[in-house]
Amino acid sequence: MDRIYGHNIWDGFEPLPRTAVTGWNGDHPALAAHARNCVGPFVIIDVGVWKGMSTISMAKAIKEAGLDGVVISVDTFLGSPEHFFMRDDFQRKNSIPNLSHIFMSNVYHEGVSDYVIPLPQTSVTAVNVLQRVNCEAALIHVDAAHEYEEVIRDLREYWKVLRPTGVMIGDDYMYGWPGVIKAAGEFSAELCLPMEVEFPKFIIKKPPA
Ligand SMILES: C[S@@+](CC[C@H](N)C(=O)[O-])C[C@H]1O[C@@H](n2cnc3c(N)ncnc32)[C@H](O)[C@@H]1O
Repeated sequence: MDRIYGHNIWDGFEPLPRTAVTGWNGDHPALAAHARNCVGPFVIIDVGVWKGMSTISMAKAIKEAGLDGVVISVDTFLGSPEHFFMRDDFQRKNSIPNLSHIFMSNVYHEGVSDYVIPLPQTSVTAVNVLQRVNCEAALIHVDAAHEYEEVIRDLREYWKVLRPTGVMIGDDYMYGWPGVIKAAGEFSAELCLPMEVEFPKFIIKKPPA
């Protein structure tokens, strides 16, 4: 938190009223299981967080296991193309969605704000920022854009900040997201590393240095 922001961004936070945390595959057991396996002190990077389901799953796993870890949550908080017309899911002030406020409120109400650092940026800018503060992650979950070019770019860029023995998990390795399937397969092949699938998550483990 200090290296990224220089202060605690939760100070003075005013949450929205509590509502259900909705999302996609954010409660998949692989997220909590791999978070619990991290050896502290450690950073988890969650790329594409929407209203916080995946971040909260991993943050709760850290908290409940008493581990010394934190989740850095990267999102534009503007939504993807498939979210643009979901008008009942968030409010817009002028043209700007309130997804960041919803995300932070959900994290706050779930009792894990001490374990979560929001990073409201594009995935590419965020990884650049994280490299500038020498951040290395033990676990990275990639679930931002789902088009081929963007997915393979995110996988390649975030692999650079995954520490040796770290684990990369991607979402939506499934029918309906051909760009994700193509990118995951090509990325695994270019690394010459096996990819495990715990449907619909794909998992690639970085070898020791
Ligand atoms: C499928 S949702 C994430 C779901 C979430 N992991 C969960 O547990 O429910 C994808 C998210 O990625 C974000 N996103 C899309 N493209 C992005 C990009 N280039 N950089 C950062 N965030 C992006 C969207 O704003 C959206 O919130």
